[in-house]
Amino acid sequence: MLSLLSSLPSLLFLFSVPCLFMTSYVCFPLLLPKLLGLIRIKAARNDHGDNEERCDERTYVVREEELQRERMPSHVALILDGNRRWAKRAGLLTSQGHEAGAKRLTEIAELCFEMGIHTVSAFAFSTENWGRDKVEVNCLMSLLQHYLSSNINDFQRKEIRISVIGNKTKIPKSLIQVINEIEEATKGYKNKHLILAIDYSGRFDLTHACKSIVKKSKEGLIREEDVDETLIQRELLTSCTDFPSPDLLIRTSGEQRISNFFLWQLAYTELFFSPVLWPDFDKGKLIEALASYQRRERRFGVQA
Ligand SMILES: *[C@@H]1O[C@H](CO)[C@@H](O)[C@H](O)[C@H]1NC(C)=O
Repeated sequence: MLSLLSSLPSLLFLFSVPCLFMTSYVCFPLLLPKLLGLIRIKAARNDHGDNEERCDERTYVVREEELQRERMPSHVALILDGNRRWAKRAGLLTSQGHEAGAKRLTEIAELCFEMGIHTVSAFAFSTENWGRDKVEVNCLMSLLQHYLSSNINDFQRKEIRISVIGNKTKIPKSLIQVINEIEEATKGYKNKHLILAIDYSGRFDLTHACKSIVKKSKEGLIREEDVDETLIQRELLTSCTDFPSPDLLIRTSGEQRISNFFLWQLAYTELFFSPVLWPDFDKGKLIEALASYQRRERRFGVQA
């Protein structure tokens, strides 16, 4: 103890030697960034080691043939996040990001159908999106209109049924017209169903269902004892598909939230969060998500 105390001054002296030749002003700026840099390098290394997802990406490359066709989900829901960030990164306009996102949606939906998935639903415009910049909202609306009207022949040729769900009261008349037209033109197709959620929110869906049930009850069509999960499910907007509950939800660009998309419907859905921005979500990423889904054991709330 004593020897330690006595060596303290010499230790202090040794440490201060490098600083003796510089003012503290010079010394600090030289040392601090270096030190921080070292800490950062260390942290980055740890990150790399600990981050399972990144490891997974590097070592677990799945090929399409490895997917089991009989274990494909029936309904895949998509939260398309990252168009704006993608555009910003590429030095493009926001509208170009949304355009790239729309193209990607068609491509991914078609890939899903080819792989035997029946229903694909996409959160294209949330109720909260009305709060965005007015120019961007208008741009998104005209992009949606253009997307639907320019693809109508393609959807017919490929026999893809299109449904649009959401609160349609605020959507521009011209877009509503195109929606009605495309829904009518494709309603007979059975095996491929693309659902676009526009001005949709999970809470809106449930509110809308409640209103409808109350109305039917007043008209004497529904009694209290009739109200059960099946009846509620039938009143939700997803009743347009035979598979109203998604088996898999994919959300891109690293956000890990439901953000008021399907609420009732997601009760037992497997969630897959990808760090990739939506316009970069390609076939390989889709296969990765499907492989992850197929590796999971689904219990639907039942304990093993
Ligand atoms: C649908 O949107 C309109 C207009 O924004 C709004 O007044 C109405 O409350 C919404 N409906 C529901 C059930 O949320």
